[in-house]
Amino acid sequence: MTYEYQSDDDMDASTNRVMAWGAGLMLVLVALFPLYRLVEPSSRDEARADQLVSLAQQGGELWSITCSSCHGLAGEGVTAPALNSKQFLQTATDEQIELLVAVGVPGTQMSAYSQDFSGPLTSEQIRAVTIYIRSWEDSAPDRPDWREPVE
Ligand code: HEC
Repeated sequence: MTYEYQSDDDMDASTNRVMAWGAGLMLVLVALFPLYRLVEPSSRDEARADQLVSLAQQGGELWSITCSSCHGLAGEGVTAPALNSKQFLQTATDEQIELLVAVGVPGTQMSAYSQDFSGPLTSEQIRAVTIYIRSWEDSAPDRPDWREPVE
């Protein structure tokens, strides 16, 4: 078996070519990296904001179908507490709302909505409806008596 050696000159030339390409590519990557670092966090923030908007939309649909008959279409309260209340929204955390909606309030009209408790909603849907309720907070009216049903 014989080996075909390239001549030293050929070898040098091809090695140099490869190294030049490699060095060039590395420079491009090095130059792009700070740019990437500049753009990446803002695109991540945007993705997170988009996700919140789409969850809130999904939550809004769920709200009107599942919750509005008792709590009112705009959360103004009908036979159940008004949730569109500055005082309620400022005292209740998302975790508390999600938990209450999941397990319900035994002995009242507020039933358990989590599928874990034989309700109709997934935990993702409960989160969506909670984000929707939370979206009222900025413009929520003064309602210190939110637990007094309107009717
Ligand atoms: C059949 C009527 C009814 C429906 C439908 C209903 N609720 Fe309720 N909900 C109530 C009542 C009544 C209460 C008050 C329970 C009590 O006496 O503590 C309540 C309480 C709550 C509270 C606690 C309010 C507070 O003052 O702490 C939250 C949050 C809530 N409901 C969210 C929801 C969400 C979200 C939905 C839809 C997924 C929903 N409810 C559907 C009747 C209802």
